Formats: sequence, C-alpha cells, structure tokens
Amino acid sequence: MDYQKVTAIYFSPTGHTAQYAVRLAGLLGGNTADVDLTRRENRDRQLHFSKNDLVILGAPVYGGRLPGLPGQPLFSNLQGDNTPAILLVTYGNRHYDDALLELADLAREKGFIPVAGSALLARHTNSVKIGGDRPDAADWEAFAQAAAALKARLEGIGEADGLRDSLSVPGNRPYRASRKNVFFPQADSRCTRCGKCVQVCPTGAISADHLEGADLSLCINCAACVHQCPEGARAFREDAFWEKVHMLEQKCGPVRREAEWYLV
Ligand SMILES: Cc1cc2nc3c(=O)[nH]c(=O)nc-3n(C[C@H](O)[C@H](O)[C@H](O)COP(=O)(O)O)c2cc1C
Ligand code: SF4
Ligand code: SF4
Repeated sequence: MDYQKVTAIYFSPTGHTAQYAVRLAGLLGGNTADVDLTRRENRDRQLHFSKNDLVILGAPVYGGRLPGLPGQPLFSNLQGDNTPAILLVTYGNRHYDDALLELADLAREKGFIPVAGSALLARHTNSVKIGGDRPDAADWEAFAQAAAALKARLEGIGEADGLRDSLSVPGNRPYRASRKNVFFPQADSRCTRCGKCVQVCPTGAISADHLEGADLSLCINCAACVHQCPEGARAFREDAFWEKVHMLEQKCGPVRREAEWYLV
C-alpha cells in the first residue's frame, strides 16, 4: 500500500490515546500530521481524505463503548473515500468490550477501510491504582514491534479497496448500552478562576460564570478538567463515584492486561 500521508486523528481528554496515535504515525513513517478532536474547534472542521491517505483513528473506551459526545458523534466531521484506516482504542485495564467493533463500524460508515485495529493499555482515568504506570517500557517495546509488523503488512497490500469488510475485531452487536452520567466534577476553594477547565473541557460543559460545577447534560466524565486544573481544585466529590472506583481498583488493579492487535 502506497500512502502519501499518515494522519493521526484522536479524541483524548487525558492524553494517552494521543500519545499512542502520534507515536504510531511516526513509526509508520513518511509525511505525518495530527488532528486533536478533543478540541471543540477541530470537530467543527469537515475533513476529507482520499484513498492515497492513511488515517489512524484513536479514542478511549468509556463503559465499553466509544465516548458519546452530546449532539455530535465522535468522528462525524470526517469523510473518507475508501481511505485505509488503523483503529486504536485505549482502555484502563478493565476491558474494551464493544468499543473497537463500534469504531470499525463507524469507520466503514464514514468511508474508511479498516486495515488494522488495536486495543491498548493506559492508566485508568480515575485511579493510579489501575494501570497507573502504563504505557510502560514493556508496552512501548511491544508497540514498536507491532507497528513494524503492521508496516510490513501494509507494504504487502496493493489497494485497500477490496478489503472493506476484511478486518475482524472482537465485540458484540448490539453494543453494550451506554450509561447515563450522574456525576460531574466540582471545584473547591483552591480555584483561582483561571478558566483553564473551561478551555480544556471537550464538550463545553463548564461555563465561565459557574466554574464550581458543570452542566450534567454535557459532562461526559472524561476528567480533562480534573487532570489539568493547575491548582488541583477540581474533583469528583460524590461518595457513590468513589465507591465505584474502589470496586474497580480491587477488581482490575492487580491484573495486567496486554495490548491486542488485529490486521487484515
Ligand atoms: C467515563 C470513563 C469510562 C471509562 N470506561 C472504561 C472501561 O469501560 N474500561 C476500561 O478498561 N477503562 C475505562 N476507562 C479508562 C479509559 O478508557 C482510559 O484511561 C483511557 O486510556 C483514557 O484515554 P485518554 O488518556 O486518551 O483520555 C474509562 C474512563 C472514563 C473517563
Ligand atoms: S482550572 Fe482549576 S483553578 Fe482554574 S478555573 Fe478551573 S477549577 Fe478553577
Ligand atoms: S466538565 Fe465533564 S466533560 Fe468537561 S472536562 Fe470536566 S469531566 Fe470532562
């Protein structure tokens, strides 16, 4: 496969998916670009790709699914034209369930041809006790090897056109039901009203007039605001939220899951 440009396109509120997608683009070599769809303004731009492009589509797993963005499905601003695509989902050491399959279905719907898919490990957004040091050195070594194998496979493929339905990835249809969020992060007295959280929130859930809370109907619980608040002022504060996190820590903390790759 002779591609002229590799574009890494990702949604990544806490940065792990971005890290993987950008590194993969670099390892595949040549002319690379990246598009961060975490930023709202980048989701407002329509992007078109040709069959001479190669795209990497990356997203984190939320509740075994792709993140559901209010009023604007993820990747809805992209259009391929039989464009080969590599699909990446990152997850926090529990499981990725139907997210990779959902991404493959979505990619095909948008005119892309999935040629590879991967489920990759990262720190769980809500706890350092679940994969807190991941991706670690072993993850990156395995990643580089997988990228080299992928590159060799792509070089062996002529045109992607005939491969539209060739990639098979795990998951079930119908997908797991999406859960409605009942929590949102709140700021405490350390807040200096700097406005950083308003800027980094991918859904516009925080208003400059009400920095203490967030709009529950827009909040996707991504924790970008929590991780990027320079004062450490924002956090999920409900006991019920932390009870769930503690249960997850007990179940998934001691286990080490490994990356999975699927190629056409
Ligand atoms: C709302 C939410 C739901 C999540 N659901 C899952 C899940 O179902 N399985 C899992 O293993 N990790 C889950 N995670 C962890 C993220 O998938 C993981 O930390 C991911 O790498 C974050 O990507 P990012 O750093 O690119 O934002 C969830 C995280 C959040 C914020
Ligand atoms: S980023 Fe933190 S300190 Fe800045 S406005 Fe938001 S909550 Fe306040
Ligand atoms: S308010 Fe909600 S959606 Fe916005 S950054 Fe914070 S957790 Fe994410």
